[in-house]
Amino acid sequence: MINDFGPMPIANSFRKEGDEDSFRYKLTTSFCEFCKLFQINENPKVEQMFHDAYPFFTSTSKSMVSHFSKFFEKFMPSPVGDSFIVEIGSNDGSLLAQAKNMGFRHLGIDPSGNVVERAKSHGINAICAFFSEKLASEIVSDHGKATRIYAANVICHIPDLHDLARGVRELLAPEGLFVFEEPYLGSMLEKISYDQIYDEHIYIFSGLSVQAVFAEYGLQLVDLEKQGTHGGSMRYVIAHESTTTPSKEMLGILKREKEQGLNTTETYLEFANECEKRKSQLRELLIGLTEDGNRIAGYGATSKSTTILNYCHIGNEIIEYFCDTTPEKQGKLTPGSRIPVISREAAQDKLPDYFILFAWNHAEEIMRLESERMPSSVAWINIIPKIEIVSK
Ligand code: TMP
Repeated sequence: MINDFGPMPIANSFRKEGDEDSFRYKLTTSFCEFCKLFQINENPKVEQMFHDAYPFFTSTSKSMVSHFSKFFEKFMPSPVGDSFIVEIGSNDGSLLAQAKNMGFRHLGIDPSGNVVERAKSHGINAICAFFSEKLASEIVSDHGKATRIYAANVICHIPDLHDLARGVRELLAPEGLFVFEEPYLGSMLEKISYDQIYDEHIYIFSGLSVQAVFAEYGLQLVDLEKQGTHGGSMRYVIAHESTTTPSKEMLGILKREKEQGLNTTETYLEFANECEKRKSQLRELLIGLTEDGNRIAGYGATSKSTTILNYCHIGNEIIEYFCDTTPEKQGKLTPGSRIPVISREAAQDKLPDYFILFAWNHAEEIMRLESERMPSSVAWINIIPKIEIVSK
């Protein structure tokens, strides 16, 4: 075992006051020296995480929508003709909107009914289902093989990676590409962003682990591209074996991963120690500020904040409220820590002395928005990559 974050609620289980909130699982991690995967040891049933009340809609972040539009264009097959594009975890259709607008045959797959309905309401073809080898065969019978399979922040949610890889092998056309991006293990270790670890992130991938897992199924990692999204992500490009030559950039990144120690257990044990240090540091800072009579609020009730709040035992006695733009989270309580979530507009009438930036991965977008409306009397507390108070 590497980390032990203690009993943890589902990261996205925002509940109304009075609603049941007793489910906990033990959030611990491991590293496999054989396949180089870093993963959580126990994951709640996927049906508990992805359902008709899933509160995350990609389109809440303008920068993510623009990111997906560029993502789609970069790997867009040509000509449109007979190409068929599939997205695993298509959420509200932010990425497939491009495919639809350009006339591509396409199909989105997502297990959360509410986000699928949102995508369909925008004219996107989508089905509510978990991706699997069986589903891949059905899609091939109904629509043929896929020229592109896209996925963003989804593959790490799928417990059975072997079934996924077999499904991709079945669905992907001989010259097709499977392109997916996920929070990157190298960035997590650099920033000590342990908040990336929660139920939905069963794996935090590296180039080394993705290469090893897919190679077992005749699929080859052919390119890697670092991304700034989600606080540091990696894009993985996979093809059928022997169809494409791996890029020089990829070989460079794999070499750096070894230099960073992503292939050895010691690196992860050191990371676990750093997490413990961050926990003490954050608790000390917040308890001190509260004792001095300061009011503290959270900015962005992210799924990631569930790990920080529950691991560091921070609740409503320290954080008065969270503001968040997602209507599905507003009027509810943060999982386990039970802190009320309100809209940013509602927060304007009761601004705190300190806002903790839990949505640190959206810092640029948020600071741009807030540079006009946040008075200088409110200070920011950054928690990742380092714990610090920043005054305006
Ligand atoms: P994510 O890190 O999983 O993308 O979640 C980001 C959360 O932060 C999501 O609940 C929406 C919220 N948010 C704001 O409240 N204000 C903002 O300006 C942005 C970009 C996100």
